[in-house]
Amino acid sequence: MTVKNQDEIINQLFNGADPVGLGHPRRQQESYPSGHLSQLPLPGVAGLPRSPAIMNLPRFIALIPAAGVGSRMGTAVPKQYAALAGKPMIQHVMQTFSDSPLIDAVYVVISPEDDYMSALPEMPRTRILRCGGATRQASVTNGLRAIQQSVDPDDWILVHDAARPGLSLELIEKLIAFVKDDPVGGLLAVPVVDTIKRSDGHAHAEQTVSREHLWAAQTPQMFRHAPLLSALQSSENITDEASAFERMGFKPRLVEGSPRNFKVTLPEDMLLAELYLKGSA
Ligand code: C5P
Repeated sequence: MTVKNQDEIINQLFNGADPVGLGHPRRQQESYPSGHLSQLPLPGVAGLPRSPAIMNLPRFIALIPAAGVGSRMGTAVPKQYAALAGKPMIQHVMQTFSDSPLIDAVYVVISPEDDYMSALPEMPRTRILRCGGATRQASVTNGLRAIQQSVDPDDWILVHDAARPGLSLELIEKLIAFVKDDPVGGLLAVPVVDTIKRSDGHAHAEQTVSREHLWAAQTPQMFRHAPLLSALQSSENITDEASAFERMGFKPRLVEGSPRNFKVTLPEDMLLAELYLKGSA
């Protein structure tokens, strides 16, 4: 797909055209009666100046939590810095967001003790925030607080794991196209294809769980800044942003992602991620 400029894409998105050029009926046609986000407090925040053509539209901002250590990878460096197709994993992710004409700013949340980020090249519209926390939730929450004075409460935040280097410009555009008019927000996810077993806790299958209506969550997860910060601050022990909204009774929109956007977790995932990135799988 050819990359269009921001004004062109945003105009298409907000005029109801088919911005992602999918050319086929949307698969997410179930109706999602959502709750009222107006119940959530919206702090008053000054926004950054914008071009007149898109002055009043919410911005799309990437927030990449990258303060984990990735202990299951067993690498010498935190997994987001492991080399993949010639550069650190996180550099692929930062580059994709930085290349997207839809994304106004990219914020990367790293650990205050991070010794690796300074070796990476600087990228346009990208800022590093040294405010990572003990959990992914804490890192995202700290990042949202850190940018609070630089964004509008209604700006859309796309939270994306540093460990998902398979994200493409097309997936970013598709997510935004499907979610920008949703009252709650949404996320990339893939329908579950395997038969799912619930174990007895000792590696014996106890039950087969119907995979109908089951989706595996991916990122980016896209929510407006103020409701997202509020939802994360009032939830405990969550592993993604959508679940904070689900706990409050909201129903984030599911947008079909891609298996290529999987989370690199185990050493053997590196080879597959590399094949995808080199375009040979
Ligand atoms: O560990 P896991 O793969 O689930 O982490 C998902 C994402 O959250 C990664 O990008 C990781 O760097 C980030 N993370 C974080 N702060 C933590 C733990 C994880 O930013 N304390």
